[in-house]
Amino acid sequence: MSGVTIKSKREIELMRDAGKLLAEVHNRLGEEIAPGISTLDLDRLGEELIRKSGSIPSFLNYEGYPASVCVSINDEVVHGIPRADRIIKEGDIVSLDIGLIHNGYQSDAARTHAVGQVSEEALALIKVTEESFFEGIKYAVAGNHLFDISNAIGNYCISRGYGVVRDLVGHGIGREMHEPPQIPNFPQKRKGILLCAGMTLAIEPMINIGRADVDFSDDGWTVTTADGTLSAHYENTILITEGEPEILSL
Ligand code: MF3
Ligand code: CO
Repeated sequence: MSGVTIKSKREIELMRDAGKLLAEVHNRLGEEIAPGISTLDLDRLGEELIRKSGSIPSFLNYEGYPASVCVSINDEVVHGIPRADRIIKEGDIVSLDIGLIHNGYQSDAARTHAVGQVSEEALALIKVTEESFFEGIKYAVAGNHLFDISNAIGNYCISRGYGVVRDLVGHGIGREMHEPPQIPNFPQKRKGILLCAGMTLAIEPMINIGRADVDFSDDGWTVTTADGTLSAHYENTILITEGEPEILSL
């Protein structure tokens, strides 16, 4: 028993609804990213958009996390805490990670945005991170094994010289934000569980220009690259089917 839940038809409908609303929040909030806005402004607006959609911000108070959105800039990998004095500037890369609960079902997604003109290497990092997600989900089909996804994501990034974060992983999702299984983004020796139609998974590569190693900040949340290089994050909640996976949060 892997403890992985298989969603019923009705539950899948609810996961679809949650995903659609989250995609909308991401699109709206992404448009607000510009030089001069604070990360707290983004969090406030994000929370408002989530609540207006009839949803609950899943991150708020999760294990004590103090906000609705994670805003992680440049060498911050994930879980950046919004602050009034943290101002976004031209040339930054900004990851927004957002989760919501709608009618009892969760959706979780992240995007990395370039602010105005950013370096070539920053743009390439964002692109490879997104591409690695799509490379991974080519294998997200009933009958394959979970680590087929991990291997595809990891090999895609490592072969291009990037560092794949190992200390944080993707996860199952449903009534809870974090359900089994854990989904590493780097190559595995084992095969992992058999994928079945009705599983819903949050796949989330976190990729560094430099080394894979990360540090955990004294604020209890912010994760940064150990070597100070840029990091990008891309995540969607997906549904496993007998054929192509359905990307619920896009
Ligand atoms: N998307 C992240 C995850 O899957 C964010 C959760 S951290 C939180 O783990 F505390 F902010 F909720
Ligand atoms: Co997640």
